[in-house]
Amino acid sequence: MKYMGSKARFAKDLLPIILKDRKENQTYLEPFAGGMNMIDKVDGVRIANDQHQELMAMWQALINDNWDPPQLVTEEDYKHIKYNQKEYPKHLVGYVGFNSFGGKWFAGYRRDKEGKRDYWGEHYRNITKQVPKLEGLILSCKSYTDLEIPKQSIIYCDPPYASTTKYRDGFDHNQFWEWCRQQSEAGHQVFISEYNAPEDFECVWEKPAKTTFSWHAENLAPKVALERLFVFRG
Ligand SMILES: C[S@@+](CC[C@H](N)C(=O)[O-])C[C@H]1O[C@@H](n2cnc3c(N)ncnc32)[C@H](O)[C@@H]1O
Repeated sequence: MKYMGSKARFAKDLLPIILKDRKENQTYLEPFAGGMNMIDKVDGVRIANDQHQELMAMWQALINDNWDPPQLVTEEDYKHIKYNQKEYPKHLVGYVGFNSFGGKWFAGYRRDKEGKRDYWGEHYRNITKQVPKLEGLILSCKSYTDLEIPKQSIIYCDPPYASTTKYRDGFDHNQFWEWCRQQSEAGHQVFISEYNAPEDFECVWEKPAKTTFSWHAENLAPKVALERLFVFRG
C-alpha cells in the first residue's frame, strides 16, 4: 500500500538484519505498522499495531471480513467522505482517506490531468495484492505505550520521525526512546528506524535515501537523508 513513510523500498535491507536471530515461534511485532509494507514480508507469529483507527478498521475488514473495496471513488464522493466521516463505516473512510497525495491522510484527491493513470485501480490492486500476505496477522489498534508484548519478541519500530520542530506532531520522542530502552531491558530484540537516535543507541545499518515525504516532517524540503536502523546498546 502506498503510505506516507513506507519502508517498502528498504525491506530487503532491513529484514535480514531484524530477523537474523529469530527463533521458531518467536513473535514479530510492529507497534507502528501503518501500510504493512514491512510486516507483509515476514512469516510466522506476527502482531501489527497502529493507533490509527480507520486504517486498522480497513485492514480488519480486508483481512478478516473478506471486504472487497471499491475500485473507483469519484472526487465528489471523496470530498463527501472526507467532510462527513461519521456517516461512513470506518474501514471505508480508511481506504479512501489514504488514497491521497503522498499516501497522506485525506491530503487531496489524486487525479491525472492527462487521464493516463488510474489511481483508484492502483490503490485497489496494491492493497488486494497485499491482503493474502497478511493472513493470520494479529491486529491491534492502540498506542504503542499500551501494548502487551509476548515474552522475548522481536519489535520493529517505524515511528513518526522527529521533525525539526519539536513536538509539533504530538509524538513524544523522548518517551518513545525511553520505551525502547525498557523493552530492550525486558528481553525483547528492539530495532528502530529513524534518522537519528540518542547516544546510547547504536546504528547497525544506514543508507542514503531521497526523502520526499516523511511522516510528520513535511516542513523539510526534499533532500538526501541517511535512513538508519538502531538498536539499544545498553
Ligand atoms: C512511518 S509510519 C509507519 C509506516 C510503515 N512502516 C509502512 O512501511 O507502511 C508511522 C505510523 O505510526 C503510527 N503512530 C503514530 N503515533 C502512534 C502511537 N502513539 N502508537 C501507535 N502508532 C502510532 C501512525 O498512525 C503511522 O501509521
